[in-house]
Amino acid sequence: MKGLTIFFLLAIVALSLAENPALVAVIEKPIIDKARDKYFTSVVNALGTLTLEDFKEGAITATDIRVEISNDASENLNVAFDNESNFIRTEIKNTNIRVKVNYKYKAVGVLPIKGTADISGPLDSLALAILMGKAEDGDFIIPQIAVPEVSLSMTNSKFKVKLTCKGCLKPVESLITTFMKGTLLNKVKGQVKDQVPTMAEEIGNGILTSSYPRTFPLLQDIRIVTALTDAINVAEDHLEIPFDGTIYTADKGIIRPGPTPDMPRYNPESPGEAQMFFSSYLTETLSNTLNTLDKLVLKTRFLLLTFVTTIDPSKGKTSVSFDDGAIVARLNPKIVTKNLKLGFELGTSVKVSLNIKPGDSKNLLSVVPKIKKMSLNSFKVILFGLPIDLSLFKFFITPIVRLVLNFIVLPKIEIPKSDLLSLTVTDSLLAFRKEYAEFGISFDFTQ
Ligand SMILES: *[C@@H]1O[C@H](CO)[C@@H](O)[C@H](O)[C@H]1NC(C)=O
Repeated sequence: MKGLTIFFLLAIVALSLAENPALVAVIEKPIIDKARDKYFTSVVNALGTLTLEDFKEGAITATDIRVEISNDASENLNVAFDNESNFIRTEIKNTNIRVKVNYKYKAVGVLPIKGTADISGPLDSLALAILMGKAEDGDFIIPQIAVPEVSLSMTNSKFKVKLTCKGCLKPVESLITTFMKGTLLNKVKGQVKDQVPTMAEEIGNGILTSSYPRTFPLLQDIRIVTALTDAINVAEDHLEIPFDGTIYTADKGIIRPGPTPDMPRYNPESPGEAQMFFSSYLTETLSNTLNTLDKLVLKTRFLLLTFVTTIDPSKGKTSVSFDDGAIVARLNPKIVTKNLKLGFELGTSVKVSLNIKPGDSKNLLSVVPKIKKMSLNSFKVILFGLPIDLSLFKFFITPIVRLVLNFIVLPKIEIPKSDLLSLTVTDSLLAFRKEYAEFGISFDFTQ
């Protein structure tokens, strides 16, 4: 009986353990710091002005309270990774606070006084611990955050008060000044401490819940699951984002051929400050997906011609997998020119290497595919739509076909620079092994 209970407990533990991701993205600390330097000012400006509710204490009523926050040096923001608690710890120092307020003073035997106060001084430090968490959303896991720790250090006596107090007697003026430096500033402090974590959680999780892409379109009907398998992992000097990575078609739905094998989730030797790892599970689901499609039709342009490549599963199975140093594919494509229907149809196995070339003024980087090995199983030339079987001569034809494929079907893939995210690539890596492929890139934000 006891043994059975333990068995069930173990079974539950095993079930609740997350599946392995098929795609992992890594972001190293320097990228966070570069992004901070680039976006700091606009984020601080976007925070703009906070408002506080009117309140009354003793003889003083404070209304129309506006808190302006400013901080002009990105180095004032420190971001640190806490791998023990899965926290990203952020601390912002030397923030200037300026509180503007209208007040009324009404005491027995004195004429009511109305005026404004302008209080300014430093918020020495505001620190938030942001927990990287997750939430289930139907069949998907999406990232969520929580802010379990907040600390604030601010010394009221460092603040200066400018008061308009027409015809005030000295004792009344000092009473109001004391109120502003004490009661009011403590209210602001309390408000920041209470509201900032709740606001961060609500806004952050609201955006994640409504906008985090559970799946993402790749090509025609083909999609990839971009939901996570677990929360983002905070490691000592980098973040690991574990994506599900199953490739599927919207038509057939998500089909998992089996568990995702283990693969590295970080490479400390990589030159990439951003890294990506692709599991062989990903190519397996890609192959399965290509075989369940009716047809995949791709158009490429070369010189002045448009080439139409059709991959039709009824002509033979497609498979894509990783190998040491290359991608191996078995394909049965038909490639014809769009207008005259000149081209060929073949069954082939190819081994393709992919190399990264550094970018230039127009491109971030380019990927150059090259066929390293190729064998032909069948070959037909298509003349004005009519196929002529030349499979008998494949020995002679193979080198020519290889040349043509290298130029027409596998053109250099150029990744253009984008205005939205202007980057300059400084180093990169693309490597293939049987179980996984790895991509790494380092870059600077331009300007
Ligand atoms: C956090 O990182 C340190 C230093 O690399 C390591 O010794 C420690 O085991 C890590 N802790 C966890 C929970 O991963």
